[in-house]
Amino acid sequence: MEFSIKSGSPEKQRTACVVVGVFEPRKLSVPGEILNSASDNYISDLLRRGDMEGKSGTTLLLHNVPGTLSDRVLLIGLGKEKDFREKEFRDSIATTVRVLNETGAFDATLTLTELPVKKRDMSWRIRQTALMAFEALYRFDRFKSKKDEVRRPLRKLTLSVESRTDLSAAEKALSQGMAIAAGMNLAKDLGNLPGNVCTPTYLAGQALELRKQNGLKVEVLERADMEKLGMGSLLSVTRGSHQPPKFIVLSHNGGKKGDKPVVLVGKGVTFDSGGISLKPGPEMDEMKYDMSGAASVLGTMKAISELALPSNVIGLIPTVENMPGGNASRPGDIVTSMSGQTIEILNTDAEGRLILCDALTYAERFEPACVIDIATLTGACVIALGHVASGMFANDDGLARDLLNAGQNAYDRAWRLPLWDDYQEQLKSPFADMANIGGRAAGTITAACFLSRFAKKYDWAHLDVAGTAWKSGEKKGSTGRPVPLLTHFLLARSGVQVE
Ligand code: BES
Ligand code: MN
Ligand code: ZN
Repeated sequence: MEFSIKSGSPEKQRTACVVVGVFEPRKLSVPGEILNSASDNYISDLLRRGDMEGKSGTTLLLHNVPGTLSDRVLLIGLGKEKDFREKEFRDSIATTVRVLNETGAFDATLTLTELPVKKRDMSWRIRQTALMAFEALYRFDRFKSKKDEVRRPLRKLTLSVESRTDLSAAEKALSQGMAIAAGMNLAKDLGNLPGNVCTPTYLAGQALELRKQNGLKVEVLERADMEKLGMGSLLSVTRGSHQPPKFIVLSHNGGKKGDKPVVLVGKGVTFDSGGISLKPGPEMDEMKYDMSGAASVLGTMKAISELALPSNVIGLIPTVENMPGGNASRPGDIVTSMSGQTIEILNTDAEGRLILCDALTYAERFEPACVIDIATLTGACVIALGHVASGMFANDDGLARDLLNAGQNAYDRAWRLPLWDDYQEQLKSPFADMANIGGRAAGTITAACFLSRFAKKYDWAHLDVAGTAWKSGEKKGSTGRPVPLLTHFLLARSGVQVE
């Protein structure tokens, strides 16, 4: 899909369709009013006759509206004006793009980008429009022998801005939105791929693809390299699988040499059967998404390289498959992590922390400015925060604040949970330095406490995306989160304004 930015009156747009908003009840938005005057009240007459109320989610397609140069006018219901906020704005764009894709119009001009959204500026609206357009058009049909072909799909969207002076800022916001969307699409594709295709080896191949396409530096460590490094905890998870483990290192060197990097660490369990502590059958297919943290790191690295982010970022992806097999780890096994700390594995299904802890130790060698790990770590996080917010932990308040802000601005929100020492007690083991589980209570927090023991040497944050990285049910699929949060965080850190 192609995008462009334009300023100018809606009635003068030579396009297949002009899109204008209608608030409830029957109140045209400002660009709608302009169009209406040009049409000699053609549109307001329709509204008065009751053809449309303006309820959110409703649409009305008009043809040959007098006084306009476009073939069609699409009215989009926006709900009550006083309730029109971030969510309503995003929903209105998604509805618009979905409807446009079915009208047969190849191109369209959107005036919704001019609608004021409380506390948000024009750049925010442009970025979100690009994101929602990609979201609405995303399909994952590469395994369908018969694809749902759209007869005449939408090819080009022109986003209107109020004045010519907005053009350059809007162009910049558009490129940010498109880069984030490209990163999200990569993350979605990887998440949606089944476990028999998306293996650790496949993820390593995707990283090498990013080297080719985006110029990232990529290195892939093999089992023997990990053995040499002493990653005994990570390697214990892979014992039951026939798939070889990989440890992927990506670097984006956009900053000065010697500038400390931000290190992102993504959990890459390409399928989590639970291992010997086997998971129950229902919905076990969803454990193909257990590499969503890794996918978000790849997606974010893609986005920042497309934006030529002026700072240094390292992506680390420990990736394995967690299977039961004759050689698999048993409950009760004790392993030694790269840090030297020993771990009693009481449940082989708490495998994410076992691979992340060695990656966190490996991160030390980069002398990081900070380290952020992203993981579909605990089912308990889905119970606590549902599918709205990602769980967030940090050992530094400044880092926590920056991540929360990035999530707010990106509309990819996180919520902080406590890392108090009192919770560490639950990880006590009589036989090793720690156990890998802490009982049923506060399962998301004890998982984070476990990781915190390997992240003492730098500022660190942990995002538990178990509830946000994918959707279950009829419309199940990967969401591409938290690529927007991470990209916003990195942009803001390198001084790019993204609010
Ligand atoms: N990948 C799962 C977490 C998960 C479960 C994410 C359900 C989304 C939905 C993780 O490896 C896991 O199995 N965690 C266990 C930890 C427990 C054994 C302490 C869990 O959450 O049940
Ligand atoms: Mn598990
Ligand atoms: Zn898992």
